[in-house]
Amino acid sequence: MKLNDEEQAMLDGRRGEACRMALALLVRYGEALGAERFVDVVNIAGVPASANKFVKEYFRPYYQSGRDEYDVIFSLYDLDGEAVAEVPRIAGNACHLQGGIDPENWETLGATPESLQLSEASEAYAREHGVRILKTCTPYLAGNIPRRGEHCAWMESSAVVYCNSVLGARTNTEGRESTSAAMLTGKIPDFGLHRDENRFGTHLIQVEVEVADIMDWGMLGYFAGDRVQEHVPVLTGRIGNADLLRHKHFGAAAASSGGVELYHMVGITPEADTLETAFGQRRTQEIFRYGPGERRQTWEMLNANGRSTEVDFVMLGCPHYTLEQIEEVVAMLGDRRISGNCRLWIFTSRAVRAIADGKGYTEAIRRAGGVLLTDTCSAIGQAIPPGARVAALDSAKQTHYLPAFMGIEAWFGSTRDCINAALSGRWNASPP
Ligand code: F3S
Repeated sequence: MKLNDEEQAMLDGRRGEACRMALALLVRYGEALGAERFVDVVNIAGVPASANKFVKEYFRPYYQSGRDEYDVIFSLYDLDGEAVAEVPRIAGNACHLQGGIDPENWETLGATPESLQLSEASEAYAREHGVRILKTCTPYLAGNIPRRGEHCAWMESSAVVYCNSVLGARTNTEGRESTSAAMLTGKIPDFGLHRDENRFGTHLIQVEVEVADIMDWGMLGYFAGDRVQEHVPVLTGRIGNADLLRHKHFGAAAASSGGVELYHMVGITPEADTLETAFGQRRTQEIFRYGPGERRQTWEMLNANGRSTEVDFVMLGCPHYTLEQIEEVVAMLGDRRISGNCRLWIFTSRAVRAIADGKGYTEAIRRAGGVLLTDTCSAIGQAIPPGARVAALDSAKQTHYLPAFMGIEAWFGSTRDCINAALSGRWNASPP
């Protein structure tokens, strides 16, 4: 890695021990990746100093009298440092992504007072150090919107793919260590999607069946990720209603069945005015067709795990629901109550929840027997209602993960399919 004067000063310890350890970690990381330099980043999304019971216990022997335990966790875990340093205030636009617990509805999630206390303590530490506590996988819905071309350092695969593809900003899928180190140094290795040559498309997907509603966008994303894995798909054809929340579902799905961090949709996304712009100097490695057969196969793949039609859990909000989605659910519920055999959990960010509260949506969901939760989700928080066996989901990403994480059956369908399941306690949706 070639370091400039500012970076060398950090590595020499002239900005303190924590910055030195942070830059040393990023140098090791950059060298492992084959990067030659850093890019400057001010927009960083991570989970600095977050701690669960295991992390706290693991580092307990290192807590020395007078040492802040979160300085210990940040230094030794986040920065992989060799000593405990006092962590300075973070400059720039750093935000905290989702956590594992809703501080208001922690009992609903089955959390313990101890885990609530841990979550609140690490959140307070991050806040005191200048991190914005957004606690969501959709920071772009909660006020963090980088500009086109801006270098960022973001964790969370669904946010990364949105950042690159929809906003045209630039980030790789970073980890806890690199984002925490970037928060102190404002640096991240210049590799992968920070570089022009890696942002061109690799595979073409011709969409030959109409893709317009959210469920269809999720299925198309799941198909795209499954086909291209970690490459860059370019999509053309019958793609309609290309709004923010459809991209949210497409990208999250593509990053689950594959490792898609960037996609282009010709005439839709910012780096794909034309097919030629999207592919640039690269040649198409492979062409895939997405027609009625592929759509049906994708639906079957997502529903391979559903057996019993007796649904006892409906989970919505992966990625975290937009206000518009909450509004739609409230309208679908109307004055009705959900089945006594079913639970309805809807996840969103604190920012969206605050607006939903003001508009009476949180209360309307509660009256119907459901709950609007924040900060986490069933997969990340590893939380489902006690005894739940069969879930209904409108997110391809959550359908991909939840059965594996929690050992339950899952059905995938439209939001209306899921609300119908919540009201009746039965899955009654047919393939598209
Ligand atoms: Fe978000 Fe959980 Fe899905 S934190 S993207 S809702 S897996």
